[in-house]
Amino acid sequence: MTAALTTRVAKADSAAAAEAARILAAGGLVAFPTETVYGLGADAANGPAIARLYEAKGRPAFNPLIAHVVDLEAARELARFDARTMRLAQAFWPGPLTLVLPKLRKCRVAELATAGLDTIAVRVPNHPVARDVLAAFGKPVVAPSANRSGHVSPTRAEHVKADLAGRIDLIIDGGATPVGVESTIVACLGEPALLRPGGVTRAALERTLRHTLAYIPPAISSADDTPLAPGMLASHYAPHTRLRLNAHYVEPGEVLLGFGPTPPEGAKRAKKVLNLSPRGDLIEAAANLFSHLRVLDAAGGSTIAVMPIPAAGLGEAINDRLARAAAPR
Ligand code: TXA
Ligand code: MG
Repeated sequence: MTAALTTRVAKADSAAAAEAARILAAGGLVAFPTETVYGLGADAANGPAIARLYEAKGRPAFNPLIAHVVDLEAARELARFDARTMRLAQAFWPGPLTLVLPKLRKCRVAELATAGLDTIAVRVPNHPVARDVLAAFGKPVVAPSANRSGHVSPTRAEHVKADLAGRIDLIIDGGATPVGVESTIVACLGEPALLRPGGVTRAALERTLRHTLAYIPPAISSADDTPLAPGMLASHYAPHTRLRLNAHYVEPGEVLLGFGPTPPEGAKRAKKVLNLSPRGDLIEAAANLFSHLRVLDAAGGSTIAVMPIPAAGLGEAINDRLARAAAPR
């Protein structure tokens, strides 16, 4: 482990963005909000900084990172775009879409960040604080979610602090992140394929592409914190408490993660109840997902019973994260 750092928490403003840029330039680590979740940023060209980032997260070093850039023009310095990829970028950037693309030879992103692959994941975030940090720094920033590897992704500065205080230099507090689940990852290395459902829905992507999108599940694509190797089940986004999905009733001793207006059988027995969206809105549910999981995980229930969540729209990403949180480990 690295010697303990003093982690400063700063309110999001232009001074904080300037400080972030100074820290990044010096090889330090800065957590900042994006529209999806908080990211832990490092200078994408600085190998030692990226090594420290992996160590701070406790993440397996062979798992590649997303390069965040301020606009499409900056992205084109890193990766090759064809006509179809340009269509996706123009339709969804800035926003919660990550594209996995062929890496250009002139791309300055450190090998450690791309795990030695000849592809690179790129995204242009649309959160004003993330944009301020990228503009102030002026170069690509790699940023995985700002949690310890395997933990629930952070949607508030307090979540980052709980996981990473003493391990990083600065946390910029910009309040709760609006989308609440990570970016959608689409591989554009031939036929576009969905690697991770996320903040941009499959339906929206398919409308822009004008065809259906194959889903390469994480067991083979590893669109999350698992190595790029076949046969690995992604137990991830993992609370300590076991999850029971598609719960239509509540057992004594359980806590309940609800969805929609109608409580399940036995809901009064629950030790604690949180509802992702009492009105059954999937956008609201995505925004609440990780913070509700954290609170219920700390509530001392035997199990977190989770009501069924519809699969449409953002429901695909929500169900994906819940399935990982419930995976055996
Ligand atoms: O919303 C998000 O995408 C957030 C915010 C901070 O931008 N970031 C995020 O990063 O979720 P991370 O590192 O937690 O997840 C990115 C995933 C990695 O698990 C990795 O497997 C995948 O993207 N990835 C990165 N580069 C890849 C590549 N070249 N090929 C396939 N997958 C890749
Ligand atoms: Mg992550």
